[in-house]
Amino acid sequence: MDERTKIAIVGAGRVGSTLAYTLAGAGIAREIVLIDDDVQRAEGEAMDIAHGAPFHAPVRVGAAGLAATAGASVTVIAAGVAQQPGESRPALLQRNTAVLASIVPRVAHCNPDGLLLIATNPVDALTWVALRLSGLPASRVFGSGTVLDTARLRSELAAHYAVDGRNVHAYVLGEHGDSEFVAWSTATLANVPLDKFCRLTGMCCDARDMAAIEGRVRNAAYEIIRRKGATNFAIAVALTRIIEAVVRDQASVLTVSTLVDGHYGIRDVCLSLPAVIDRSGVRQVIPVPLSSEETESLVRSAAAIRATLGPQAA
Ligand code: 2OP
Repeated sequence: MDERTKIAIVGAGRVGSTLAYTLAGAGIAREIVLIDDDVQRAEGEAMDIAHGAPFHAPVRVGAAGLAATAGASVTVIAAGVAQQPGESRPALLQRNTAVLASIVPRVAHCNPDGLLLIATNPVDALTWVALRLSGLPASRVFGSGTVLDTARLRSELAAHYAVDGRNVHAYVLGEHGDSEFVAWSTATLANVPLDKFCRLTGMCCDARDMAAIEGRVRNAAYEIIRRKGATNFAIAVALTRIIEAVVRDQASVLTVSTLVDGHYGIRDVCLSLPAVIDRSGVRQVIPVPLSSEETESLVRSAAAIRATLGPQAA
């Protein structure tokens, strides 16, 4: 980490403020700036988080206007309206496109060299919109995508097998939303594909288990929002992990939402595939081998995101 590493967060709602809190404790930024139209809210959150700094790594946390995105390594966009109970992510597109239109061009102007990380939903469609609004290269504009869904999946599998989730590798790909799918053919435990793991150990995840796990992962946000009105903790940790990969130049493989233009025959859509994330942003998309069914699911997911975008993506 550079001594001056600064992260800007636009939107001091539940996701933005929880991210600021999580980042402050992670010791990967020297400065965190919270930006919100509701200046009092941003100031209050920043003060509250800053007062915890003596208990962890030194970090300055403050509130400011959009001009303060200048010099940030990463600007996270967490502004906009959030899903209400029972509401789908695509239903937020119009309102949140307008929010991004008032933010992204100014951020790109103030900070032409930084990275833009989109967290606002529907995140895949809005990553595509932000890419166009910013005029920045595709490697520097990406979304949180299915990094969170992949973590949900790994947590589910860890619980199913009663093993450490860090030893389970499996991806949720496609849309961060209803058309997402689990790439089961690439899933491994202790580096062993799940079907072989079952034969070797007797610890199995059969078709019914898989369907139930996939369903819980896909519906997790609905279930959480129904109970507490929003999701904020796990998405904040997921965003912190992506930011860590950038500021520490880790070249980590993460399923961010990024422009796909050619892989699997998909063109000009932002969606999640495993990608190498380092200081430059998305260094490379990894076109993992998928089964024919999974490839069909990915193509369907790309079509669903295009449908969300409507005529603007034509
Ligand atoms: C989530 O999946 C709502 O997209 C948010 O938690």
